[in-house]
Amino acid sequence: MKHLPAGAAVENNSGEGNKAWNSIGSGSNVFVRRIMQTIMLFVGFAVFWMFVYNNSASPFGFPATISHYFNGISAQEYYDPNLKNILKNASMKDKTVILTTLNDAWAEPGSIFDQFLESFQVGGNQTKKLLDHLVVVTWDQKAHSRCVDLHKYCYQLQTKGDNFTSEAFFMTPTYLHMMWRRIEFLGTVLQLGYSFVFTDTDIMWLRDPFPLFYKEADFQIACDFFNGDSYDLHNFPNGGFTYVRSNPRTTWFYKFWYKSRESYPTMHDQDVLNKIKMHPLITNKKLKIRFLSTGYFGGFCQSSKDFSKAITMHANCCVGLENKVEDLKIVLKDWKKYMALHESVRKNSHPSWNVPKSCRGSFERSREKRKKNKGRL
Ligand SMILES: *[C@@H]1O[C@H](CO)[C@@H](O)[C@H](O)[C@H]1NC(C)=O
Ligand SMILES: *[C@@H]1O[C@H](CO)[C@@H](O)[C@H](O)[C@H]1NC(C)=O
Ligand SMILES: *[C@@H]1O[C@H](CO)[C@@H](O)[C@H](O)[C@H]1NC(C)=O
Repeated sequence: MKHLPAGAAVENNSGEGNKAWNSIGSGSNVFVRRIMQTIMLFVGFAVFWMFVYNNSASPFGFPATISHYFNGISAQEYYDPNLKNILKNASMKDKTVILTTLNDAWAEPGSIFDQFLESFQVGGNQTKKLLDHLVVVTWDQKAHSRCVDLHKYCYQLQTKGDNFTSEAFFMTPTYLHMMWRRIEFLGTVLQLGYSFVFTDTDIMWLRDPFPLFYKEADFQIACDFFNGDSYDLHNFPNGGFTYVRSNPRTTWFYKFWYKSRESYPTMHDQDVLNKIKMHPLITNKKLKIRFLSTGYFGGFCQSSKDFSKAITMHANCCVGLENKVEDLKIVLKDWKKYMALHESVRKNSHPSWNVPKSCRGSFERSREKRKKNKGRL
């Protein structure tokens, strides 16, 4: 924070300097020349400062102008009274909110955002009430107005100079930037004292997850592939679904995670998490990490086989918006059919998911393509 007031003070000084400059009359004596020299020095200094200040934003790749003084916390959002109000209103009694991020492509009518909201509605009487605690963080104006039409709590992220409107393709620079901006934002929410469940919008909420979370963990995360041991760091986590309690260990961890992107500039948050999850610092700080079983928190990589246990279904291991929308349609259809059964019948039914269909193969095809193009899509 040191630099902002300093810059502002210099600008004020140069303003006063201009006034003094104009009021200098024709009487040229040594005294006046001294004053003029001092003023010139101030003006020069101010110009120098403004140059340094304005240019400090982009070369380091930080989205918010002064965020690097917070290292992983966006000052812009930390001091935003609007965000504080939204979090306060959306919060559960224990200062917990549910967060998701949304851009225009996913917010289009009939697209993923509609399916996401629908999942809360058809999830039965367990998930609808959770909408009162959901804050939708929007990347652009269009997504924001669509959110406001459908939902109570929408917060537009300031993303100066960025255009996150269209579909951000996996691993493109825009995609990477969005993912890291998201980590920074979530770190800010923790710093503001709120715990959160972060959920990707392509996750269907079929049941209330809270009874299933581990009581004593700091950081819980869903998996693409779960090996059966919730403590085992060799699991493959998926950053699309996390439950993080706000405390000094987690606020430290989000800063550390965000900072680690500098060591792995071509990787997204999830791959970097895989790199740092064994880091000795995490053990030293006693951060309690748990991995959520795909038996409950499933996805297209590995789905919850037992409908009576399914809590969420993530359209992971899938590339392409249209593929996701098609397959999530099937998920909702399967789920509605299951929920419509009479309770006695439902208990003894053993349905299975008709997915992934469109998504099957999309992930492998894209991986092959990236390999061929040396990492670029
Ligand atoms: C939060 O709730 C207060 C009181 O109910 C209301 O006046 C205010 O408009 C709400 N703000 C937001 C951002 O939802
Ligand atoms: C609805 O909620 C009540 C109370 O939480 C619960 O006992 C009941 O089983 C729920 N019904 C369904 C269909 O999940
Ligand atoms: C953002 O990108 C979309 C599609 O690429 C384009 O239509 C839109 O005009 C852009 N918006 C801004 C503000 O540059």
